[in-house]
Amino acid sequence: MSKKLDDFRLKLAGKELVPLVIGGMGVNISTTELALEAARLGGVGHISDAMMPAVTDDVLGTHFVSEKLSRNCGNVKQPDKSGVFFQVAQVAEATRLYVSKTMERKQGPGLVFLNCMEKLTMGNPKETLQARLKAALDAGIDGITLSAGLHLASFALMADHPRFRDALLGIIVSSVRALKLFLKRAARVNRPPDYVVVEGPLAGGHLGFGLDWKKFDLKAIFQEVVQYLKKEGLPIPVIPAGGIFTGTDAVEYMEAGAGAVQVATRFTVTRESGLPEDVKQRYFEAEEEDIEVNMLSPTGYPMRMLKNCPAVSRRVRPACDAYGYLLDGTGHCSYLEAYYQAAQNGGADKLHEIQKVCLCTHMRRYQCWTCGHYTYRLKETTRRNPDGTYQILSAEHVFKDYQFSTDHQIALPEECVPCSVIRNPSAVIRDP
Ligand SMILES: Cc1cc2nc3c(=O)[nH]c(=O)nc-3n(C[C@H](O)[C@H](O)[C@H](O)COP(=O)(O)O)c2cc1C
Repeated sequence: MSKKLDDFRLKLAGKELVPLVIGGMGVNISTTELALEAARLGGVGHISDAMMPAVTDDVLGTHFVSEKLSRNCGNVKQPDKSGVFFQVAQVAEATRLYVSKTMERKQGPGLVFLNCMEKLTMGNPKETLQARLKAALDAGIDGITLSAGLHLASFALMADHPRFRDALLGIIVSSVRALKLFLKRAARVNRPPDYVVVEGPLAGGHLGFGLDWKKFDLKAIFQEVVQYLKKEGLPIPVIPAGGIFTGTDAVEYMEAGAGAVQVATRFTVTRESGLPEDVKQRYFEAEEEDIEVNMLSPTGYPMRMLKNCPAVSRRVRPACDAYGYLLDGTGHCSYLEAYYQAAQNGGADKLHEIQKVCLCTHMRRYQCWTCGHYTYRLKETTRRNPDGTYQILSAEHVFKDYQFSTDHQIALPEECVPCSVIRNPSAVIRDP
């Protein structure tokens, strides 16, 4: 009989979990609701700490962004952002609030992790990162996945926290080389990671590859990582990610020695995803040629996105005084520099030539439609409504499809009851 993902279990922290991890998707695409569904159903969900103060404002009604802006309002039109800082205590407060409100609502046997992007340097890379990590531990997060950036020092930043050895800590890598470097540094604090996510070239968000991403293959990197950990005698679960679209894709990795699989793209079009409803429709409609990997992100990493998203075509004035998540320790961000250089060289006419985007503004407004390679297959996973739109799925439906499907089949959702029937139940034609 064909195997299904539910025939396997992820063993972590003495628990036996459904081996399905929903990866972090910033900014607030992997919402609290999405992560809680994964946990309720016995798997692992992620919230993302990307732009957490802004997300906390949107979700919990706090005022972190306006308070930061009011401290810096005299500087808004100036290119010099060296004096623009986050208050570290506020960063910690936002994380603590958001994470604790999420964890209070958690039900079921699964876990909720935080996806933490090192590349969000926030004007003070070390202290803001430390504040984010420690506040998440304070607030009771089950685990932290370190992503986007090498994070060599991140374990040391948390080493004196009382939960450093009890909370689950994992890392995302895209090569054995990166893993080796990380393990060497983790050895200094005598704390290996509890799991390793191996992210391949078909993933969404930022990629750990160059523009030559097509030359790389997740299966090959995954095997190298598994072999390396075996040779070193390190029994750490390896979790492949990127392009695992069906339950059967997942089973193939489990049979090859994976501890679990991490997925994201199929959950972008669920009710629980933070993307606005019309953007979910754009994801469903996408064809393969509508998706590109480009270098528009000021982080310097390639990023995959839909070509027709507003971020690709629009250039906005940098909003570092309110946001500033990509400012380095001296107030630099490559978009900020490109913007003011273009403004100096010819004003508005030159702006369209800028080869970077303002990720802070566009991500917060859901205008940078980052996506996985197989976004063009999302239309296979649902039905069309009578008006031609695609039926939005529930996270439970997608989760269970990964968990129980076989032979690369994808279960379609129940057919939608037409709205006319809901408005007028007597319109239902009953058998005599
Ligand atoms: C819309 C979207 C946003 C993402 N954002 C992030 C992110 O902020 N941080 C991160 O580590 N990974 C991010 N990812 C990568 C996912 O967490 C995951 O590892 C990967 O996309 C899995 O591959 P799949 O999308 O083909 O299933 C994102 C993926 C998508 C689709």
